[in-house]
Amino acid sequence: MIPYGRQLIDEEDVKAVVEVLMSDFITQGPKVEEFEKALTEYCQSPYAVVFNSGTSALYCIYRALGLSEGDEFITTPITFTATVSAGVLLGAKPVFCDIEPDTGNMKTELLESLITERTKLVVPVHYAGHPVDMERVWQIAQKYGLYVVEDACHALGSAYKGFKTGSCKFSHAVVFSFHPVKHITTGEGGAVLVKDRELYERLLKCRNHGIRRGEDWEYYVEFPSFNFRITDFQCALGLSQLRKLDEFVHKRRQIASKYYEVLGKNTRLEFPVERSYAYHSYHLYPVRLKEKEKRRELFRYLRKAGIGVQVHYIPVYWHPFLQKLGYKKGLCPIAEDFYERVLSLPIYPSLKEEEFIYVVEKLEEFLSV
Ligand SMILES: Cc1ncc(COP(=O)(O)O)c(C=O)c1O
Repeated sequence: MIPYGRQLIDEEDVKAVVEVLMSDFITQGPKVEEFEKALTEYCQSPYAVVFNSGTSALYCIYRALGLSEGDEFITTPITFTATVSAGVLLGAKPVFCDIEPDTGNMKTELLESLITERTKLVVPVHYAGHPVDMERVWQIAQKYGLYVVEDACHALGSAYKGFKTGSCKFSHAVVFSFHPVKHITTGEGGAVLVKDRELYERLLKCRNHGIRRGEDWEYYVEFPSFNFRITDFQCALGLSQLRKLDEFVHKRRQIASKYYEVLGKNTRLEFPVERSYAYHSYHLYPVRLKEKEKRRELFRYLRKAGIGVQVHYIPVYWHPFLQKLGYKKGLCPIAEDFYERVLSLPIYPSLKEEEFIYVVEKLEEFLSV
């Protein structure tokens, strides 16, 4: 099966992991801080805290910002459930902003109309690796005194108006995931980049049971939390992968251009775009079929041909946990139309030329009848 995304691990990565496995500390050792420092340098942001997943990273930053019962947070329905579930677990209510039909990102023109007295947080998601218009989000957030957390789980290595995603230039925090289909991997893993020292310290505690260290054996649990720690050997892998990130993104961009070059004239498809303010890192390559009734058929056709296409995403409020809370289908019509037509094609740095040709051939074969 040619998957829609996969990791690229080389000898250097393996060596880095093995070195840590043979050392004194396989967790809570020096590689954690080294990886955090490398992330701050890459993203040009003062602080980073790494976690055992993007989901725990999201949960901890929402919690560190005080999101709780009675609060609302605004996000997009075209995202993975984690963006929303993390807030729901804290007792907050998700409010869904419809999307732009071409980037798949939250439509920032709609943001102001969704703000109420209870809104505490806005969570833009850089869908597929294309940055949201963050300056606009930031202006609105400043006007209403809201926090902004970028869910950049798709967007490590992208940039907005020349600022690296993760710089926190137009937000309070930026969250990444290091799952194997993402730009770099630690197996499972995630990070939060922040510019505020106090927020950074709260994140460190949230990662580790709410603990503040005292003298000698003493420690104080300031609030109950979980073990969200990542291991040192994972961070060694992350460090080694991060050195190759720009190369990985470059390769992804080349594949994206090739898809457009080869398929761009096909009038039955719509393609990802790149706004003038954006540097797209192409975590995904989602095309949209003009005829939505053909999508399932195409999905099955390509899967049967050994091509692991995927659909990103079922609108989050369609899931039972939110339907039970009263969210209704029809809430965000553009997002629903997008979902019904979208299909992610394989894109990852190790995708071979012959695999790319095969994917295109099969797709064209289906579309020619
Ligand atoms: C947009 C988005 N947010 C959050 C997450 C959660 O990240 P993780 O799988 O590392 O927990 C993902 C992962 O797929 C994601 O795509």
